[in-house]
Amino acid sequence: MLVLRNARVATMTGPQTAAGEAPLGIIENGAVACDADRIVYVGRAAGAPSGERNIDAEGALLTPGLVDPHTHLIFAGDRAHEHAQRLAGATYHQIAQAGGGIRTTVQATRDASDEHLLASLRERLSRMVRAGVTTVEVKTGYGLSVEQELRLLRLARAAGRGAGCDVVVTLLALHAVPPALDRAEWVRQVVQELTPEAAREGARGCDAFFEKGAFDAHECRAALEAGAQAGLVPHLHADQLSASGGAQLAADLECASADHLDRITRQGIEALARAGTTAVLLPLAAWFLREAHPAQARPLLDAGVTVALGSNVNPGTQRIESPSLLLAAGCLIAGLTPAQALWACTAGAARALRLDDRGVLKRGARADLALFATRDPAHLPYHAGVEHARLVVHGGEIVHDARAEALVCG
Ligand code: NIG
Repeated sequence: MLVLRNARVATMTGPQTAAGEAPLGIIENGAVACDADRIVYVGRAAGAPSGERNIDAEGALLTPGLVDPHTHLIFAGDRAHEHAQRLAGATYHQIAQAGGGIRTTVQATRDASDEHLLASLRERLSRMVRAGVTTVEVKTGYGLSVEQELRLLRLARAAGRGAGCDVVVTLLALHAVPPALDRAEWVRQVVQELTPEAAREGARGCDAFFEKGAFDAHECRAALEAGAQAGLVPHLHADQLSASGGAQLAADLECASADHLDRITRQGIEALARAGTTAVLLPLAAWFLREAHPAQARPLLDAGVTVALGSNVNPGTQRIESPSLLLAAGCLIAGLTPAQALWACTAGAARALRLDDRGVLKRGARADLALFATRDPAHLPYHAGVEHARLVVHGGEIVHDARAEALVCG
């Protein structure tokens, strides 16, 4: 048994609230005990069982392992030049129309060896684990043929083995129309061939890019209904670049999450609230794209919508892997309080993936923990750009131990 004592335990078991109170469920002088891959005790240190391995947390903040519910982490190539083009005034659509964007990465990814894709994904995962992330959703979407999408799915699952985190794979075949293929034929292949096979091969979710220049409501509906029928958890890229009724479509399709939402409308917010669909905000992408009106958490929280934060790491529109910068962007760009942002990166993010065994510290939950070099949750988004995780536990195993760097309690 592994026991962490003398911690400031943030259980995340409180409800998310609009008022800005801390939904963190703090236990002062607390302890968490793990037996194999499960939590068996959360409470005051005085009542904790003793284990074979006992760690003194020295009063530092202990949270559930962070969950990143939205990444496009498996890809090859580099599109820094597009970032420079956007900074010089080019738009996302202009770059895509000139032959860049997603298709550039599709070509680079298809050309890359399995070994390269595996090694580069493992490297990205390892940086995230060292920062306290223990569950990472990884979307396919840069293969864009039945064979290549399945290849990315298999590689992502393989990269997750021994990575120190769980990799949850989402099929995002409707990311772009494959080069040299009729769009109706691609949708047919996705619905009839790829989706059932992806479910058999261990995909957990399905997703589609609902946007002008990407896929329309009819096409997204077909893909997500096929996914749901195959047992996949549906998600939707919604209202990112245009107000196209994406949130309403996500709600109608009973999606677990609607993601991006920079241009969500009042009707969209109400639809998400009615459907119980989690809003995944991606403020680092809004920053990268210099969105004039990035999605705001407050109207969503006021309406009773669960808000999660995701990194949206991808080679085109957001290349920052840092959870502390995500927490900072959640506060500075999306308007969350530090406590709400931390909740959105744990309990909220787990909810976006319909994973009810993590994101909170409670008996029976997965033994995924992050111990930070601070007592104060607000320190994480405040001192952003520096990763503060000192000890990371995944499935009851210590996967990162930097306590030699001091458990400074500030
Ligand atoms: O979330 N919206 C769609 N997909 C990514 C962009 C991917 C890319 O440009 O390669 C996004 O922003």
